[in-house]
Amino acid sequence: MTDRPILMARHIAHCYRTARREVWALREVSLTLRRGEFVCLVGPSGCGKTTLLRILAGLLHPTRGEVWLRDQPLRGPDRRIGIVFQKDSLLPWRTALENVRLPLELAGRPGPEAARRAQALLEQVGLQGFEHAYPRELSGGMQQRVALARALAADPEILLLDEPFATLDAITRERLNEMLVELWERERKTVLMVTHDVHEAAWLADRVLVMSPRPGTLVAEIQIPFPRPRGADRWSHPAFLQTVWAIRQALGNGGG
Ligand SMILES: Nc1ncnc2c1ncn2[C@@H]1O[C@H](COP(=O)(O)OP(=O)(O)OP(=O)(O)O)[C@@H](O)[C@H]1O
Ligand SMILES: [Mg+2]
Repeated sequence: MTDRPILMARHIAHCYRTARREVWALREVSLTLRRGEFVCLVGPSGCGKTTLLRILAGLLHPTRGEVWLRDQPLRGPDRRIGIVFQKDSLLPWRTALENVRLPLELAGRPGPEAARRAQALLEQVGLQGFEHAYPRELSGGMQQRVALARALAADPEILLLDEPFATLDAITRERLNEMLVELWERERKTVLMVTHDVHEAAWLADRVLVMSPRPGTLVAEIQIPFPRPRGADRWSHPAFLQTVWAIRQALGNGGG
């Protein structure tokens, strides 16, 4: 159920320059996200995945290349794009509810309507009862759920997720992934999610993009042909395991 391009990266390269040295994080990345699709991005640690996500979110200006949001160049952060960072992104002095309300306040929507929306989002991610808890009072998984609710607050069309559940145990991660898929199906968002787990990528995505080691470039695109809903019985399907293997191979080939 995907259609026209919504976010495009064209010939992106990025070099971090510090006083002491230059690091080329991305070499040449072009990609297109179509409306409604769920894409996973996998690649070895340090290959530039977070850098790419920050560029796609308009938070970092690439050294070369450009990003297009629909038919306009992206010039900076945009309310149509929500992002969940790899870690530590909640404001510690704000409660869960206040964290989720933040984008609404920044968009000039304070007040009771914003509070109601924030409350509803926290319920959607299963955090009713924790609205007034501070981040330090929440588990890692709960904090990431708050971050997800916050990313959804301004009702973005695109969600960029940077290993949102990577630090969690496998069972919690699987539950949160299920929640994410339900949310994606219900709200018809476009999702690009970074993960280093190839099983997770094969289970979640319509399409998996594989990156090479730094400086990162895309080395493969693997379509995931399985219909949805995808049940827990995937582990018993040879076709699923073959897909996982194909992603793994692509990662290996890029690792030369
Ligand atoms: N702010 C920065 N200043 C200088 N170098 C940076 C900065 N951020 C990242 N880098 C470098 O850019 C490269 C890519 O980093 P990035 O965080 O994008 O990788 P990643 O693929 O997200 O890794 P991981 O899987 O470990 O999260 C790394 O070599 C890193 O050292
Ligand atoms: Mg990263």
